[in-house]
Amino acid sequence: MRKTAAALRTRKPAAADPASGTPHVALAERTLDPDDWERFRELSHRALDDMIDHLSTIEERPVWQPAPAATRARFERPLPHRGRDLAHVLADFASHIKPYATGNTHPLFMGWVHGAGTPVGMLAEMLAAGLNANCGGRNHIGLDVERQLTAWFAEVFGFPRYASGVFVTGTSMANFLGLLIARNEALGQAVRTEGLAAAPAQLTAYTSAQAHGCIAQALELAGIGSRHLRLVPVDAAGAMRLDRLEAAIAKDRRKGHLPFLVVGTAGTVNTGAMDDLEGIADIAEAHKIWFHVDGAFGALAALSKRLRPLVAGIERAQSIAFDLHKWAHVPYDAGFLLVRDAEAHRRTFANRAAYLQRAPRGLGAGEVWPCDLGPDLSRGFRALKAWFTLETLGADRIAASIERCCRVARHLEQRLRKLPMFEVVAPVALNIVCFRVRGAGDEVQEAVVMDLQERGVAAPSLTVLGGRTVIRTAIVNHRTTTRHADRFVEHLMASTLAHLQCGSVVAR
Ligand SMILES: Cc1ncc(COP(=O)(O)O)c(C=O)c1O
Repeated sequence: MRKTAAALRTRKPAAADPASGTPHVALAERTLDPDDWERFRELSHRALDDMIDHLSTIEERPVWQPAPAATRARFERPLPHRGRDLAHVLADFASHIKPYATGNTHPLFMGWVHGAGTPVGMLAEMLAAGLNANCGGRNHIGLDVERQLTAWFAEVFGFPRYASGVFVTGTSMANFLGLLIARNEALGQAVRTEGLAAAPAQLTAYTSAQAHGCIAQALELAGIGSRHLRLVPVDAAGAMRLDRLEAAIAKDRRKGHLPFLVVGTAGTVNTGAMDDLEGIADIAEAHKIWFHVDGAFGALAALSKRLRPLVAGIERAQSIAFDLHKWAHVPYDAGFLLVRDAEAHRRTFANRAAYLQRAPRGLGAGEVWPCDLGPDLSRGFRALKAWFTLETLGADRIAASIERCCRVARHLEQRLRKLPMFEVVAPVALNIVCFRVRGAGDEVQEAVVMDLQERGVAAPSLTVLGGRTVIRTAIVNHRTTTRHADRFVEHLMASTLAHLQCGSVVAR
């Protein structure tokens, strides 16, 4: 390879080869591979070592820090027509990208619902990139790996062995695809060609008032309109009220509407509340409505024997959307849609264009391809990092880390309840603790959170409950222990006291 490249070298070499630092040969003659594989190997090994060092010492650095203006400005440069030496680009990554990431690998990151990733997931992601498999279809092992994952998830959730499943970006997308299948089943295949003109009546859907915003968005994207989503009130625990669900369906039926979908939530985004999935399944069955579960993070409580009762009834859903990148810590992104009726799944999306014809043998063989199960034709090998994660860690270890998150959340709740300065404002059903600085306005809650984030000591987030801004800590990270929760409380008290005593003066 090096010899060939040397032989091809023409005229005066200009800039260096990005990967090897060796001089350019005529571009038209070159592949995009490094000229010097040995140097590429050396640099790659060093980059991997650096990343392993970074992860194994993650606690020594700030949880998050904003990128300085000069760093941000580096990403406003014009398109590079000539490549640079890989060593220089790696140095840029180390100085200008790595320090300014989201921070969700750090145990004191408690904002939003972010998974932390794992070193083994990182390794798998690199191997997948090496194979560069297109998992949209065709006859290759990547599809078997994805089918293996589908069978495992079917087992976890008590679905039939031959349930259907597909990796997607995240639960927002999985919920959208679940809704499209429900729409297809309600209106028949005609909806694929005729659109909503095929509907004999107005479609209506149901979910809780605490459901994630992507459900309403899915109705908008599907052309049904979010106005036709009934946001059913929740009880004191944050779960959808079944009496109100029944009433909403009955009212729509009386108006001649066509109720077609009810979405139960396993772990609401704001507080981690669990809907009564058993109760929703009964209602959905009685009314012949598609029952979909948004289990973005909470569905994986099913891995734990202790927590599994919280998601009882999930096995009766028609479809489940959940993320591997949240509580299973598969590196972003890895959302999944599991569908009980494999044929219903396929008939919503399958498309027999001539260039996607199946062959009796060869690379074009095999049924069903993932491109039959969603709109993506080109797809990466997400299944590989999920397979590595489950094969190396095992489902029980992931379940134990999920249980620990819930214990840490309860520990944090207990600590906060003992401090008169704070009030816990929602029941802690799972792993999310929502609280406020007692007696203070919304601006103090916001200032305390921004302060903790900017000091790099912890990263909680904010949400709104009952019209008031609250501080939200979602314990999702497998690295977070009660020791970190205690450290969080110390920083929280320092920031809060500084705000209460000095108005907007920040504790540093
Ligand atoms: C309950 C729930 N549904 C849906 C989503 C969206 O998932 P994603 O960000 O993977 O699209 C989230 C994200 O936190 C969530 O908590």
